[in-house]
Amino acid sequence: MSTEDPDEAARRLAAVSLAADDPTGWFERLYAAAAEGAAVVPWDRGAPHPLLVDWADGRELGGKALVAGFGPGFDAEFLAARGMATTAFDISPSAVAAVEARFPGSAVDYRTADLLDPPPQWRHAFDLVVEVMTVQSMPPPFHPPATASVAGFVAPGGTLLVIAVVADTAPEDGPPWPLTRAEIQAFAQDGLNPVAVERLEQRWWRAEFRHG
Ligand SMILES: C[S@@+](CC[C@H](N)C(=O)[O-])C[C@H]1O[C@@H](n2cnc3c(N)ncnc32)[C@H](O)[C@@H]1O
Repeated sequence: MSTEDPDEAARRLAAVSLAADDPTGWFERLYAAAAEGAAVVPWDRGAPHPLLVDWADGRELGGKALVAGFGPGFDAEFLAARGMATTAFDISPSAVAAVEARFPGSAVDYRTADLLDPPPQWRHAFDLVVEVMTVQSMPPPFHPPATASVAGFVAPGGTLLVIAVVADTAPEDGPPWPLTRAEIQAFAQDGLNPVAVERLEQRWWRAEFRHG
């Protein structure tokens, strides 16, 4: 195992992809290296995001959930444990293999898919869509199409929850490329209206939108 800082190692992989005009190829290389013990996934918290857990506390959850860019899988497992029929996707096949090994017998339907070109049958198909730090993991020119894609998954009457790092000014160096207030507000499209856009602990956006 390398002693390099996991964030630095991820940025180094990302730089190679970005230089080759391939903004997402580094995720597969990172998860594949992690599977061999040659890298650490820097965003693997070993638990669902605390702001998701806090948001869900005391809420009645049910119906179909979609987790965009599931990464280590804990957010998807959390929603499934809360009774939601949960689909979760990531661009990296090795990320899918990792969660299938980590959560054998999981109730979550894990898929490989690209947020920038998602399956058309997912459009307006989910009661709850959860996006945690996935749009921000792509360079800013990809934020508008990724945001539109996320918003488009929400069914009539459904809810979108976005958790992302705050950028006070447009970020230049990444990954990640945290979201400005305007970028968070941009999820209010395709029939979605803001319910609460919160800035928490200074550095986090937690934004809830409802369709209709
Ligand atoms: C910063 S990580 C966050 C992972 C997870 N949501 C979390 O909070 O731990 C971003 C995740 O999004 C995935 N990802 C990035 N671009 C994607 C895309 N275009 N389509 C699907 N997944 C993508 C990456 O493979 C990675 O697992």
